[in-house]
Amino acid sequence: MLPAPDTDAIDEAAALLVGAQHAVALTGAGISKESGIPTFRGKDGLWTVRGEPPLNQFQEFHRDPKAWWVRRLEQRANPDEFALSLSASEPNDAHYALAELESIGVLRHVITQNVDNLHRRAGQQSITEIHGNMRWMRCTDCHTRWPEDKVDVNLEDLPPRCPEPGCSGIVKGDGVMFGEPIPPDALERCYAEAAMADVFLLVGTSAVVYPAAMFPQLAHQRGASLIEIDPEPTALSELARVALRGPAGEMLPLLLRAVRERIERR
Ligand code: APR
Repeated sequence: MLPAPDTDAIDEAAALLVGAQHAVALTGAGISKESGIPTFRGKDGLWTVRGEPPLNQFQEFHRDPKAWWVRRLEQRANPDEFALSLSASEPNDAHYALAELESIGVLRHVITQNVDNLHRRAGQQSITEIHGNMRWMRCTDCHTRWPEDKVDVNLEDLPPRCPEPGCSGIVKGDGVMFGEPIPPDALERCYAEAAMADVFLLVGTSAVVYPAAMFPQLAHQRGASLIEIDPEPTALSELARVALRGPAGEMLPLLLRAVRERIERR
């Protein structure tokens, strides 16, 4: 049985959000846990169970992009348990609550480390997918991105080439591989958001992976208030002004309700 939510903490977090000029959220695998997708670390995390993937994934891709594409198409045809959990997943109440906080003008931008596409499906408009999106493709030369159904993959002519005029770079899945630099446009937007943020929500991330974990710290150094939503402490807990210790699918709807009540009382 989870402990009762800390209503004072929820109220303090709501006050910070309602009073914010530019609130930003950084989300991680924990926000999708209640959608049936495992996290990476922690006792039943994917990397805990399987071990981390090789750090030279990107170099391996460039060594033989055709072989990578053949493996990708085989995996799509025979998905493993993790891939099945991704394709079967639906947005949960936490994703919808963040989208709602954006639509009522309280949350300005979401930086997500997740590739599961659930924020977009929940209706989030202003979003940076810093590790890419599993349903998208990207050119490794010009960094143009497309939803995967917009890219013509010809099995007789792998790897697919960029259709942008004058490019013809190799196209890969949009997901950022280990060893791959974060696409420049995504990095640029994250720095810009961290420079404007006066409130930063940290939702479902252990905050141990960079550069993602750097952005709330940059904002904090400028005086931003961090609000952490996670059942467990994280690497950034000591910087948090408020911690909502519980599952995001429970905490974010409570936070949204408290925000709405404050706005109605204004
Ligand atoms: N609600 C909120 N948070 C939760 C929940 C939940 N229901 N369940 C677990 N958590 C928290 C865990 O306590 C942990 O702090 O989610 C966090 C998940 O941490 P990680 O598994 O490390 O995931 P994440 O921080 O997203 O990892 C970052 O690492 O390997 C890379 O590319 C991968 O994007 C990923 C990055």
